[in-house]
Amino acid sequence: MTYVHPDLARVLISAEAIKSRVAEIAQEIGRDYAGVERLYLVGILKGAFIFLSDLARELSQIEGAPPHIVDFMALSSYGRTTLSGEVRLVMDLRDPIVGQHVLLVEDIVDSGQTLNYLIHSLQGRGPASLRSCALVRKERPGLTTTVDYLGFTIPDVWVVGYGLDYADTHRTLPFIAELRREVYDRSG
Ligand code: PRP
Repeated sequence: MTYVHPDLARVLISAEAIKSRVAEIAQEIGRDYAGVERLYLVGILKGAFIFLSDLARELSQIEGAPPHIVDFMALSSYGRTTLSGEVRLVMDLRDPIVGQHVLLVEDIVDSGQTLNYLIHSLQGRGPASLRSCALVRKERPGLTTTVDYLGFTIPDVWVVGYGLDYADTHRTLPFIAELRREVYDRSG
């Protein structure tokens, strides 16, 4: 039986469901990029590190899938809740991506602010193509951000696990769970 920490209200997506969906997404990506010389998988830290590592390992086992390079970017979430919603780059890619096929890999799309920023910023660097992949996306009215490869749509609740955190905790749970409201309410 899966142990569920008292901070958690319920498991939303089991480890098994994640595993099989990640394999499906990898199949889709492998098919779409077949014949491409090289694919740049760009993980957005910290949250994407688990999804990216599972996705990349699945991709490695697909016949005909392109060779891939893994790189990372990190953004500061400072100002996320303000109206101006500034996103600041704190760690950039190692190499230029001009002429490369780039796939952004995110754990979650919430307001869409991070992904919008990244697409705008990386498009300016002249990649051959730029697409996005996210494991989960919140159901939020008015959210227009496009996600090319999406794992799951989830309700607009606080979720943790599989890369997602609450104050840097619960990030390494193998499943995605809803955090109890009392946990984040009591922190003010
Ligand atoms: C989370 C997540 C996405 C972003 C999505 O990162 O990993 O990058 O928020 O939210 P948005 O769609 O509202 O922009 P966070 O800033 O919490 O950093 P972390 O990944 O280091 O936990």
